[in-house]
Amino acid sequence: MKSVLSERMTIHLHDIEHRELPPAAAAAVRALASDIRHRLGDRPHTGTLQDPALLDQIEQRAAELPVAVRHAVRPPATPAGATVVRGFPVDDAEFGPTPQDWQAAAVTAADPRHLGSLELDIAMLLLARCAGEPFGWAGQQNGRLVNNIVPAVGHEDEQSGASSSTLLSPHTEDAFHAARANLLMLACVRNPDRVATTVSSVREVRLSEADLRTLTVPTLPILPDVSYGTDFDQPAPPLPTIWFDETDRATLRYDPAYTPLDDADPAFRAAYARLTEEFARVCHAPALAPGELLLVDNDVAVHGRVPFRARYDGTDRWLKRVNIRLPERRRRALESSENGYGQRVVAPFRASTDRTAERGRTDERADERGSVEQP
Ligand SMILES: [Fe+2]
Repeated sequence: MKSVLSERMTIHLHDIEHRELPPAAAAAVRALASDIRHRLGDRPHTGTLQDPALLDQIEQRAAELPVAVRHAVRPPATPAGATVVRGFPVDDAEFGPTPQDWQAAAVTAADPRHLGSLELDIAMLLLARCAGEPFGWAGQQNGRLVNNIVPAVGHEDEQSGASSSTLLSPHTEDAFHAARANLLMLACVRNPDRVATTVSSVREVRLSEADLRTLTVPTLPILPDVSYGTDFDQPAPPLPTIWFDETDRATLRYDPAYTPLDDADPAFRAAYARLTEEFARVCHAPALAPGELLLVDNDVAVHGRVPFRARYDGTDRWLKRVNIRLPERRRRALESSENGYGQRVVAPFRASTDRTAERGRTDERADERGSVEQP
């Protein structure tokens, strides 16, 4: 399949959930991020954000933040599966030029003239820790726990966050992997042309019973996207596109750009195409403004981006992204046997959450639908 949404698509501007981070709560996050940065001084923590001293600070001090912060970053509450959180102030002057690529973004986060990027990284880790467990991927952006999304020369037409002139087709983030995020948090540093992010929810589409049945049958694999490289030699298990969770609500794994649709029979391809059309029909298209956060429930909604012309002059659209695991979420039991094409998560907060869960656990058995806690 060439592209999921036609570039002539009609964007339906339904309202998605909006939340306000109260000013005192936003100020508390900023102040704590700034304090943590000061304490860390010149330690070499900007490359991957995996410095143990930084991680300790996040782990110990996220609890200091007001309850209103946790409330603002809870998972999206409506069937749209996405929420815009407003009220986190960013000052453009603190950021310096938009970096040329994610590599440059990691380096310039250490620039003492522009500390906004590093402080926003730290703030996002705090916010993400309030929501769940932030994690990264060893094979993506060098394992950095906060990814920078900027358009990069030579990548304009790719299906990755570095692209610009092509439509970034709606997709589940890291759909190929069983350890993919439950929740994505995107923060907008700048977006001068108000380029829209697209979000479509499987819980807002209308499909026939027959199509639903077809899409719940494991039929095709989903392969890793180009940001992980292209050298894979692993067996590729077929996956269901749609799966009903333990509350009988639809969840999905969907990434047509990395799904070999030509290998499926016509009935499956037709059902998949109808799902794709439905995603276009129910598409929300928030154009994030500086300081806005977009929370996407990655089990419920697919996301993408409309095409835009990159400027490459230091003023380009710049988002930051954190992957978040929600330890209480359950997924399809068979996912635990997937090999993930050798891609590993960097999950420094996993152990402490599991210890806490262990203490609070009474008699937790596998539920009757055979779900497992995700790996
Ligand atoms: Fe994505």
